[in-house]
Amino acid sequence: MVVIGVKVRAPTKVTLFGEHAVVYGFPALVAAVPIYVTVEAEPSEKLVLESGPIVLNSLEIEIRENRIELGGKASQEVKKYFSYIVSALEELGVNKVKLSVKSELPVGAGMGTSAAVTVATLQAVNKLFSLGLDKKDIHKIAWDVERKVQGKASPMDTAASTYGGLLKVWKEGNEWHLKNLELPSEFEFVVGVFKKMKTTGKIVAEVARKLEGPNGSLYWEIMKTIGKVVEEAEKVITKYDLEKLGELMNLNHALLEALGVVDSQTAYAVRKVIELGGYGAKISGAGHGGALIALVPQDKIQKILSVLEMVGAGKTFVIRGLAKGVE
Ligand code: PMV
Repeated sequence: MVVIGVKVRAPTKVTLFGEHAVVYGFPALVAAVPIYVTVEAEPSEKLVLESGPIVLNSLEIEIRENRIELGGKASQEVKKYFSYIVSALEELGVNKVKLSVKSELPVGAGMGTSAAVTVATLQAVNKLFSLGLDKKDIHKIAWDVERKVQGKASPMDTAASTYGGLLKVWKEGNEWHLKNLELPSEFEFVVGVFKKMKTTGKIVAEVARKLEGPNGSLYWEIMKTIGKVVEEAEKVITKYDLEKLGELMNLNHALLEALGVVDSQTAYAVRKVIELGGYGAKISGAGHGGALIALVPQDKIQKILSVLEMVGAGKTFVIRGLAKGVE
């Protein structure tokens, strides 16, 4: 029998400006980056999920009234790892497929890997079974999955992974908007990935509690100010004004520190980047470890990459050029 499978890849992202505030509708700028999650799908008699060394077959997967349950030998960690995929399959009502997932970054690294896994899974199944979903449908379902698995979530990560490029994301009234922006081609930034200490879901919930707490009105002011920083950043990002953009990054980072989402290791790393002559740096994503991004003069890139490694980044790289959406 000839098995015809499909292979799909979805980009991860860095949040240039506006994380956390975007959950409440304030604007954010997000860039899809050429670091991918790949999903291969082929028809199968039963549901088989595999990712790197982990393989789950039908012995560990129970299907009950279209709900997929990972039981048997699947540990909590494995269940969590596959929860975005399982939820995506449930949304599509598909449970006879073999999916093989490969990620260039660990899932939960804080660069939208979970959104990329979800978007790539949906698109792979869409193509394999000719479901006729367009990118708008994929994005909508992926965002539903993120909210289901993680609690509160903005459409930012799933939009970056679905549509690619540089996007402004914001909410007006009850409606979310996406706008495509041009990033100058010479634009490059340094990224360091640190060990993640808490999940995005947990950090987003902690921020929500602060907003509802006794000092809530002060935290709302921080959110509003982040929104203003993003509006300024939008004005300069297309002009390639690195000094101004770096300063806005530092401001955004300070506001995230005030929100309580920056751990001491990444706080120290950001300070080192500035000391070494970087234009600006900030955490990128939910915080408590995860990604750090920096704008750095060309002649300081190598030095800053090695210092980021010295202060604990498990992975460092330079991003040049943005990624297209899922394909
Ligand atoms: O840490 P990440 O890459 O999952 O990014 C989360 C970004 C937040 O703004 C904190 C949450 C969201 O849903 O936008």
